[in-house]
Amino acid sequence: MATLQAIKYERGRLLVLDQLRLPHENHYDEVSTAEEAFECIRSMRVRGAPAIAIVAALAHAVELHNGSCTATTPEETVAYIESRLDFLRESRPTAVDLSNAISLLKLAARAAKIEGLAHPEAKAAILNSYIEAAEKILEKDIENNKSIGRYGSLWLSQQFNARRDRPISVLTHCNTGSLATSGHGTALGIIRTLHSEGLLKHAYCTETRPYNQGSRLTSFELVFEGIPSTLITDSMAGALFALHRERMNIGAVIVGADRVVRNGDTANKIGTYALAVLARHHGVKFVVAAPTTSIDLETETGEGIKIEERKPEELTQITGAVVNADGSVDTSRTARVATADQRIGVWNPAFDVTPHALIDVIVTERGAVVKGADGKFNFSQVLPERWR
Ligand code: MRU
Repeated sequence: MATLQAIKYERGRLLVLDQLRLPHENHYDEVSTAEEAFECIRSMRVRGAPAIAIVAALAHAVELHNGSCTATTPEETVAYIESRLDFLRESRPTAVDLSNAISLLKLAARAAKIEGLAHPEAKAAILNSYIEAAEKILEKDIENNKSIGRYGSLWLSQQFNARRDRPISVLTHCNTGSLATSGHGTALGIIRTLHSEGLLKHAYCTETRPYNQGSRLTSFELVFEGIPSTLITDSMAGALFALHRERMNIGAVIVGADRVVRNGDTANKIGTYALAVLARHHGVKFVVAAPTTSIDLETETGEGIKIEERKPEELTQITGAVVNADGSVDTSRTARVATADQRIGVWNPAFDVTPHALIDVIVTERGAVVKGADGKFNFSQVLPERWR
């Protein structure tokens, strides 16, 4: 089956689906420089922790391929690459995938085999080493998501003894699917896998105020994939659990992650923490789906996570396709409307932190991690190369 593709890449050319125009319009922007990537990420035309990292890495690969680097020595070439990556890192602060990708890409540029090579061959070897490493991030992401899907589905089916004749329902928040990654998705990848294995009864998705990634993007993906699903507002989750948990066999809330720190505290889209509290109260499992690229072992607890605050207009205004008097949607016309008194003060944190105590499992591409007897997550098994 065709899947939605947020990122289209071939060497020298990067196209990024403008997610602000979804679900009404499929428009790809060409992103050819670090500046264009910065703006695309900052304005949330592309969003989602893995997708942000991939677009930044590949945009720089494209500009290098197209000759943006005028350095004349290997040292200058590496310094140029590093400065462009440091610039891109500032585009959005909370998701750690971009920082992890930048560390890896800097290493690749520095590790290029240039012994015995004179300029310009040495420079070409460094550029090539960078470009190949950036392309590898794209390739690896989709494999990782498919593994997360399998591990998550396995863990859930074991917890609930889920079978084709006793499938489970789940709730997800924000968008973690093909649009937030290179394909398949993280939390939505688990839902996709559960569905393909016949173990999913129903998927609920939240609207995800204020940016509506749930109603604009996740519901679009669920409908596109033919997954039985229902949209609720963020504030309806408690009532959903109280009234329909038993009848619908709602077993888990499954969310993605923008940054999982060393003790398992997890920054994710604003509203995630409230869902974790509700899930615990109602005996619903709380599952975080996070590729190891979203794990930050350098930050000890959630208190160390920088939370991005965004502009007030995200709460007080909204853009959408115009609905005609007969109820049909005119996708060729959009309108921006006010949803609040424009003078009201606004607090708009884009993410919150769910304490590890409220999380039952963190599913990575290398396996499902549960808490030890000390009540803490330990990532030494899934990240031996970064553990210290
Ligand atoms: O602000 P966004 O849309 O970039 O935030 C993305 C999220 O918070 C997602 O929920 C997600 O879990 C991380 S991406 C798989």
